Amino acid sequence: MTTQNTDLIRTDLTPLIATQLEANISDLISGKFSNEIGELLEQRGVVAFRELNLTDEQQLAFTQTLNTTDIQDYKVTKITMDPLENPNADYIKGAFYWHIDGTMLDIPVFASVMSSRRLSETGGRTEFSNTYAAYDALPEDEKAALEGLQVVHMFETSQLYVNPEPSIETLKMWQSFQPNVLPLVWTHRSGRKSLVLGSTASHIEGMSLREGRALLTKLRDWATQPEFVYSHEWKLGDLVIWDNTGTMHRATPYPLDSGRLMYRTQIAGDEPFM
Ligand code: OGA
Ligand code: MN
Repeated sequence: MTTQNTDLIRTDLTPLIATQLEANISDLISGKFSNEIGELLEQRGVVAFRELNLTDEQQLAFTQTLNTTDIQDYKVTKITMDPLENPNADYIKGAFYWHIDGTMLDIPVFASVMSSRRLSETGGRTEFSNTYAAYDALPEDEKAALEGLQVVHMFETSQLYVNPEPSIETLKMWQSFQPNVLPLVWTHRSGRKSLVLGSTASHIEGMSLREGRALLTKLRDWATQPEFVYSHEWKLGDLVIWDNTGTMHRATPYPLDSGRLMYRTQIAGDEPFM
């Protein structure tokens, strides 16, 4: 006899970030748990399902159940660094460095849903840092010192990690993205605050370049300490969702020709960086 489990089973993976969930696929796609999952994302940064093995259609349908905006733009994006499969592989090599998706936009995506379709034999974890928890844990005097600081984010800053000696044509192409000035501390509608950091962060307005870079680097070191980080070692068919507004993430190194392939869908955001 099989018993149908109609609950959402929850196991926290570390004290401050990431919760593993178990549920059956039809319940997930019905939207039965969408409010609960939305709240967990905000509270825990990351939720992970092991070996769920959703089809593309199921992943799209599940992603739609988590949408709370009226933006309806659903597609599956293949995330692979294999230049034979992905003509933009060079850009996504930036994913090896801590980042938030969409810092060049005023309203970043709320969450990304990623499933593993082919694994690398070595490396290729995805790591997440809880930028709400990292902010909360700062000493009060440091929080006060960050208040009101504005950070200049540039696409070229993130691309220089991957290609430190670009041609002038390449640099000009990167510079076709205008810099975006974002608060260092994001006060969300909920009243909670998170740090806005990552590989596009260039410098701090009104501070010398060196002083600003030192502060950004110190805060990245702080936010990526083990207690704020969850490192997901993928099994085939895992599905991981992260709150892109309250976490940073990166891929750990893996061979570019390893065949690693992820399918990613996204949930639109409606909250500007403020
Ligand atoms: C992304 C990303 C990391 C990974 O899809 O935005 O950064 O592990 N992916 O592939
Ligand atoms: Mn990313």
